[in-house]
Amino acid sequence: MKTFNVGIIGATGMVGQRFALLLDKHPWFNVVAVAASSRSAGKTLKEAIGSRWAMQEPLPESMAELVVMDASADVDKIASMVDFVFCAVDMKKDEIKALEEKYAKAECPVVSNNSANRGTEDVPMVVPEINPEHIEIINAQRKRLGTKRGFIAVKSNCSLQSYVPALHPLKKFGIKNVLACTYQAISGAGKTFETWPEMVDNVIPFIGGEEEKSELEPLKIWGEIKGDVIENATSPCITTQCLRVAVSDGHTAAVFVSFDKKPSKEEILKAWKEFSGVPQELELPSAPKQFLHYFEEENRPQAKLDRMIENGMAVSIGRLREDKQFDYKFVCLSHNTLRGAAGGAVLMAELLAAKGYFDR
Ligand SMILES: NC(=O)c1ccc[n+]([C@@H]2O[C@H](COP(=O)([O-])OP(=O)(O)OC[C@H]3O[C@@H](n4cnc5c(N)ncnc54)[C@H](OP(=O)(O)O)[C@@H]3O)[C@@H](O)[C@H]2O)c1
Repeated sequence: MKTFNVGIIGATGMVGQRFALLLDKHPWFNVVAVAASSRSAGKTLKEAIGSRWAMQEPLPESMAELVVMDASADVDKIASMVDFVFCAVDMKKDEIKALEEKYAKAECPVVSNNSANRGTEDVPMVVPEINPEHIEIINAQRKRLGTKRGFIAVKSNCSLQSYVPALHPLKKFGIKNVLACTYQAISGAGKTFETWPEMVDNVIPFIGGEEEKSELEPLKIWGEIKGDVIENATSPCITTQCLRVAVSDGHTAAVFVSFDKKPSKEEILKAWKEFSGVPQELELPSAPKQFLHYFEEENRPQAKLDRMIENGMAVSIGRLREDKQFDYKFVCLSHNTLRGAAGGAVLMAELLAAKGYFDR
């Protein structure tokens, strides 16, 4: 595989910091540009992040002295330096939409962690093991944008990253209804216990916009390309409650599910064990070997013990049992800033690279 020069837009943020760690020494991607708001522009990345560094490992030396560019003012300059950008910024939705389109129209593909373009009908929202074929909509998007190379591809919300992969191999049994309660880590809000002391010893029963995203986005992921758009699936019926809990990293979900054709417990376990997708087939550098890990122990998965399985790129599942109201219930977990954010975006970029979407 050839190598590509990349930029990180939002490099000073929580997800941006994860990108820096994941891309340091990446076999295909080489970070040559970092950008954030005008507040950070002109400083070195190390200075701009300052005391906000929230990762366990240090900021990679290869990036620490890069001078931060202005994500909005320097679009053309950044586009001329890189083959594509990763984007994770905290701005208003319409501003993010405009910014991402500006990069795409400057012929710079955007792999985005932001929610602004998730509903755009010709923007693929990809979990590479589940709907890799959706990247083919990029040809239609390029037609709309009038670009040769430029496009936008997005990652889904981190909340659904645990339960959609667990449900996907069970679709053959006809999933009817899903109830998912998520218990979401504070890094999902770009925070640590130092920057959000109110979260110590606390649960907050509201995360703005999260339940809507958790119910709607799976239907796009399970949708189909029809002409120049991705048409959402019309089932299953999903209802969610999303809570913020006192955990640093790792979103847990308690899931209840009913089927048209109720499978046996063994059939479900077999479907999880045998499930693998295009990233495993292509041996993409960030792909977990085993995407879904099932724990027999009744007190697993646990955020603290299991979020880093397969470098934080796998999904852990446990406690599968029959339910009185639904057919089954189980618990699942994924690392929200790795598989749920930066890691998932890097894997999607590896898929796009392998399929030639960054070629010139
Ligand atoms: N954290 C997660 O687990 C997670 C998961 C999935 C998706 N996301 C999404 O990823 C995005 C970033 O989240 P985060 O948690 O990394 O946020 P964050 O830690 O608050 O970082 C925000 C980033 O956006 C930049 N920014 C703010 N205003 C800007 C502007 N006007 N122009 C250019 N850059 C600007 C900041 O730069 P300065 O330092 O210069 O202010 C910083 O780099 C959000 O859209 C979020 O919804 C987050």
